[in-house]
Amino acid sequence: MLNVLLFVNDRLVPKAARAHLREVYDRADYYGSRLRLGRDIFTQIEIETNTDCNRKCRICPRHKNEREVGVMPAELFEALLGQLQDIDFRGRVSPVFYNEPLLDDRLVTLMRATRTRLPRCSIVVFTNGSLLTPQNIEALVDAGVDTLLVSQYQQNLRADAATWAAAVQDLPLSYRRHVRYRILGDEDPLSTSGGLVPVRVPVTRSRCMQASLSCVVDFRGNVVLCCNDYFGDHVLGNVGTEHVVDIWNRPAFVELRKQLRHGDFRREICQACAQGTLRPPQSK
Ligand SMILES: C[S@@+](CC[C@H](N)C(=O)[O-])C[C@H]1O[C@@H](n2cnc3c(N)ncnc32)[C@H](O)[C@@H]1O
Ligand code: SF4
Ligand code: SF4
Repeated sequence: MLNVLLFVNDRLVPKAARAHLREVYDRADYYGSRLRLGRDIFTQIEIETNTDCNRKCRICPRHKNEREVGVMPAELFEALLGQLQDIDFRGRVSPVFYNEPLLDDRLVTLMRATRTRLPRCSIVVFTNGSLLTPQNIEALVDAGVDTLLVSQYQQNLRADAATWAAAVQDLPLSYRRHVRYRILGDEDPLSTSGGLVPVRVPVTRSRCMQASLSCVVDFRGNVVLCCNDYFGDHVLGNVGTEHVVDIWNRPAFVELRKQLRHGDFRREICQACAQGTLRPPQSK
């Protein structure tokens, strides 16, 4: 489904309409899954397996804000997989936050463990593509990764495009079909990442489905508000001490997601995100 959406979005939808299409898709995804599963549960989980990155893209908060270097302990990752297994999780799993997952030399092992524990889930690895090789693409696909989504930025193309091309050009189609590629530029509608990044064409939103669709777990095991919570200022619980479903079902979190789905943006980060504006510089 992700591949179909990406294909349509990248090739057939005009740039200006992409964010609106995404909003419609997100609403359909949330209400559809609620009907299908009979409960309010995330359909995507993003796990910060490592924090490091080898780029400072202008469109990303990393450009101006350092991030502590660290990795999620393997036992914590395993414990989280166990929690997802408890609910027979079949949505999307991605080793992502503001990191480059291919810098983590455990990536193949972690993805294989994910596939073993969650045979029906969809595994999508977001990457800047700079470290891809034919060998690691094959190893990741063999480990159970469904899609490698390569995003490159205009400013990095000179450094990364050749690497990327060399990685895929001789791959058999059976592997290459798992790799998707997109270039993001300053003219693309992009998120301000909760008011941290001065993008040229900011995405706005009237409602937020993001926090209802996606559970984001940082490398310490903290469940944070959403993928825009770069500093982890909005922690809802920790999967090292509580089950992820109990965190998700906590009344205050349920109420917060409901407010967001109805366009009630009380937090500063959400106001900036929804309006496509910037927040005052952070002191961290
Ligand atoms: C933060 S990156 C981390 C993974 C990897 N380092 C990468 O760049 O693909 C995760 C995803 O966010 C996207 N992204 C980064 N900055 C963005 C922005 N300002 N608006 C929308 N998407 C953004 C990237 O293209 C990527 O698909
Ligand atoms: S967008 Fe990805 S590659 Fe670029 S700085 Fe952010 S995390 Fe790193
Ligand atoms: S509105 Fe708030 S919760 Fe929703 S994506 Fe933006 S920052 Fe995250």
